[in-house]
Amino acid sequence: MDRLLFSPLSLGGTRLPNRIVSLPLYLAYPREDHEVDDLVLDYYDEMARSGVGLVVVENVTVEPCGLGSPRTLLISEDRFIPGLARLARTIQRQGIPAVLQIHHAGRYANRPDRIAPSPFETWGVVPRAMDQGCIDRVVQAFAAGARRAREAGFDGVELHGGTGYLLPQFLSPRTNFREDAYGGDASRRMRFPLEVLAAVRAEVGSAFTVGYRFLADEYVPGGLTLADTLPFARELAKAGITYLSVMTGCYDAFQLPRYVEDDAKEGFMVPYAQAIKQALPGIPVVAAGRIQSPDTAEAILREGMADLVGLGRVLFADPLWPRKARGEIAELINPCTPGCLLCLRRVKEQKPAFCGRWPRERRERFLERVGG
Ligand SMILES: Cc1cc2nc3c(=O)[nH]c(=O)nc-3n(C[C@H](O)[C@H](O)[C@H](O)COP(=O)(O)O)c2cc1C
Repeated sequence: MDRLLFSPLSLGGTRLPNRIVSLPLYLAYPREDHEVDDLVLDYYDEMARSGVGLVVVENVTVEPCGLGSPRTLLISEDRFIPGLARLARTIQRQGIPAVLQIHHAGRYANRPDRIAPSPFETWGVVPRAMDQGCIDRVVQAFAAGARRAREAGFDGVELHGGTGYLLPQFLSPRTNFREDAYGGDASRRMRFPLEVLAAVRAEVGSAFTVGYRFLADEYVPGGLTLADTLPFARELAKAGITYLSVMTGCYDAFQLPRYVEDDAKEGFMVPYAQAIKQALPGIPVVAAGRIQSPDTAEAILREGMADLVGLGRVLFADPLWPRKARGEIAELINPCTPGCLLCLRRVKEQKPAFCGRWPRERRERFLERVGG
């Protein structure tokens, strides 16, 4: 039987050769000048050659006060376009479309001047609550970021509404206790991310791919659950989103026993993608979350739980996953180890990430290249 996994799919105006997505993975590879460098290019070259059908580039920040780390790519000025254009070309040279994730970390920014919907203390710092002028500025920064991504040659942008960053900080009743038009009931809390989408759409037009990294459940007490996020997904669909890439969890959840336990399970985010897919049959949905086995990936598609299958750490651990799944390489897949968290730990230490599952020689070569 032909595998659905390797059948093509149209996403907006872009034809994907298959249903496997290289998910955005921030690996602390960029330099402190926030420009694309060789480490970044080599990583995306490997992802594009891996046999996936779409590469989504890690979070690229729309204004400096939204940087999640000193080693994150920026798209806040036109001078970043040439470097990003090299990145787009590196991926597209392999015949694979490239989408760029545009981002603002909000209260999770690694900056003294961090901003947020409300002054919700985070990692010992109280962020500045955004006034109307600041809200308008950030909305325009997203729109300008999308324009620059298009000028750099990307096939689309993905708004980073995952991991509890700025967009879901507005959505969540836990972190948004504003009393103006952007806070209060659910429809008011949706207002900011919907304004961002509208401004991006106005900038890039209706034909350009604009996806959304969608936080279906924050995994924290009092945080967002599907009851809040499903109605938001419907609004995104009405506002012309091209696809939803569904994830769960935020930084406040990643250490909690419930998240740690679920993160070890094969396909742990898939039921959330399925719920979104059922509610919005017309919108392509990407499922994620430790999809280690090609049989799991195929079942997700066959059973209609999602339209695409996203691989993050799984593909980082074994960049030959798609070719092994296709039978081009007769070797077992090298799986990401549950509970390992080495990549995440390296990123938190602001050191370029590597995978503990890589062969020793590759790890040694990598550490030599990045200087430990
Ligand atoms: C080190 C690391 C960096 C990540 N960076 C991003 C990112 O930049 N943008 C994003 O939307 N998700 C990011 N994620 C989440 C992944 O895209 C993915 O949703 C998650 O790891 C689950 O899929 P997996 O089990 O295949 O890794 C990151 C995850 C890890 C572990």
